[in-house]
Amino acid sequence: SSLVIMSDSSNLVNRKSKKEDEENAENEQTSSAASAGDQSSQRAESSVKDNPSSSNPSKIDVFTSFVESVGQSLKGAAAEAARPSSPLKTLDLAGIADYIKTRKPKNIIVMTGAGISTSAGIPDFRTPGSGLYSNLAEYDLEDPQDIFDIDFFKENPEPFFKLAKALFPKDVKPTPAHYFVKLLEKKGLLLRWFTQNIDSLEIRAGVSKEKVMAAHGSHATSTCLKCRKKYDLAWITKHLDSSALVPHCEAPDCDGVVKPDIIFFSESLPRDFFVKIVQDFPCCDLLIVMGTSLIVQPFAGLVDEVDSEIPRLLINREPAGPFRAHADAARRPTIPLEVCYGLGIKASHRDVFHRGDCNEGVLELAERLGWDAELEQMIAAGPPTTELL
Ligand code: OAD
Repeated sequence: SSLVIMSDSSNLVNRKSKKEDEENAENEQTSSAASAGDQSSQRAESSVKDNPSSSNPSKIDVFTSFVESVGQSLKGAAAEAARPSSPLKTLDLAGIADYIKTRKPKNIIVMTGAGISTSAGIPDFRTPGSGLYSNLAEYDLEDPQDIFDIDFFKENPEPFFKLAKALFPKDVKPTPAHYFVKLLEKKGLLLRWFTQNIDSLEIRAGVSKEKVMAAHGSHATSTCLKCRKKYDLAWITKHLDSSALVPHCEAPDCDGVVKPDIIFFSESLPRDFFVKIVQDFPCCDLLIVMGTSLIVQPFAGLVDEVDSEIPRLLINREPAGPFRAHADAARRPTIPLEVCYGLGIKASHRDVFHRGDCNEGVLELAERLGWDAELEQMIAAGPPTTELL
């Protein structure tokens, strides 16, 4: 197995470096040959004992055996050099828990999408059947994504506001997965929470505002598209509860359409998002991704901003982005990583894909970390704040 090859190659290196201290290159070659020869002779001798009919090894046998042993060692060294060192003992939640316990990462970045809030009753976008984009037939849209397209909205804001009631439900509660991230913050391990969600459940779970980067904005505030007057959540909520479909600005002589401050397609992402990427990702020592299809850019591309040796975990119902390679590997019978590298099979040395529900995933991780009682306490206590972004 690869372990044997590794220890063989390291023995060879140790032996060599000792001799280099003592002898010149020519002598070294001779003595290495002799020592390999000695080993071969010993092997040959033991085989003689096993097989009384065989005779003493010839010089050719000794030389062949020496060449073979050097070849084996070189092969081992080459395989070792080609294999990137894995920061994880195992490519699963146990490996991630072990990494947190032993390496003590302090700059964990969390990236989330709509899947983290589905158990709170907010639909995601792309799950066939329940996702928002499969339920827009009544809006007669050419492309379901048009509902979040800024040019389409400027021409026809009605479909968006019809949907807004479902999108911004009242009295939603953070999920166990939200509280898990709060727990990371409480333990001083959370560097930043990059979220695509506009539901503000991160803040409801008690995570500090400065730790949350809402990449696609939030519905906590709204802006008049004409005079840029700002409105708060209470104003837009009251409006959504009233019969008028499209909210209009109340500033004198304005009457512009008021749009919640969520980022639509073709709109720029907040400047702060790009500042935080540059600031945070080079320091990231563990990336946890949950509940996203990793389809929408530039957010999806953030997973590649962490250093190539930093472990990445995806907890999701389906594989996404670069975690697909891990999911493919998981379908094969388990092949040790070293063997994959040796045979040239594509395998990740630092990605973990945990297929399943976000809540179930974080509960298992918390249990493996011995944090389950604390997490369950936070869940039972409920949202510590009603404040939004
Ligand atoms: P998607 O709907 O594209 O993906 C949600 C992912 O979460 C899917 O892979 C689901 O399988 C998974 N999922 C759903 N419920 C889950 C659960 N309870 N546990 C685990 N996994 C679950 O949503 P996003 O990736 O967030 O942008 O979508 C990204 C962006 O596309 C949104 O921010 C929005 C949308 O268009 C804009 O509106 C600009």
